[in-house]
Amino acid sequence: MLFDTHAHYDDGAFDKDREEILAGLGAVGVGAVVNVGASLESTRRTLELAWRYPFIYGAVGVHPSECGALTEEDIRWIESLASGKKVVAIGEIGLDYHWEEPERGLQKKWFARQLAMARCVGLPVIIHSRDGAKDTLDILKAEKGEEIGGVVHCFSYTWETARVCLDMGFYLGIGGVATFKNARRLKEVVAYAPLDRLVLETDCPYLAPEPHRGKRNDSRYLSYVAEAVAAIKGIGREQVEAVTWENARRLYRLS
Ligand code: NI
Repeated sequence: MLFDTHAHYDDGAFDKDREEILAGLGAVGVGAVVNVGASLESTRRTLELAWRYPFIYGAVGVHPSECGALTEEDIRWIESLASGKKVVAIGEIGLDYHWEEPERGLQKKWFARQLAMARCVGLPVIIHSRDGAKDTLDILKAEKGEEIGGVVHCFSYTWETARVCLDMGFYLGIGGVATFKNARRLKEVVAYAPLDRLVLETDCPYLAPEPHRGKRNDSRYLSYVAEAVAAIKGIGREQVEAVTWENARRLYRLS
């Protein structure tokens, strides 16, 4: 079975056929999905999906690009959701320096605040980090990330950075980029990282793997990512599926 550890089925890209796709996932070997909140509104919709579908779990939190207008009251609202039966993580949270806005000071403030909240409620975090490796690691260290745990999703940094994240106990989220021809750096990370610290993700509707690159992504394409990881590691796809399934359950503390 495949575990899609990071999806956005609340996204408008699925408005026309969301039910059809979700209803068909079991038949193609996708056994579990974590839908990830990126804003207050998508966190709300994430919970609706998790209540409705037995195999969908939810992560609650605010993405760095959406944190510009956050308030302490919003954080308390998210915190109040954390005890929900199907809520398995705080996320996605982090830093995205690819975009100018919101300014870095604000991104750092709300990343640290949501990490502290995750520690308080005892949930792992889903970290989104783009073009900001150093600040991400500095904040993780300051907030005692090794006591919180979680996953660095859509991992995009070097092996040296991966090693620091692994040493802090984090998992690495591997998605469609692993299938791209020019993804040398990520392939190196996949090759070096222990298989028992990798989890598979789509980040759908974004980042569709080859041969669907550039199109809308969904969990039915996750098998291409499993295949790419198997090829890089020189092992069978079944082994990748079985081990990453268990990894995901450990990451999200599903017993
Ligand atoms: Ni995402």
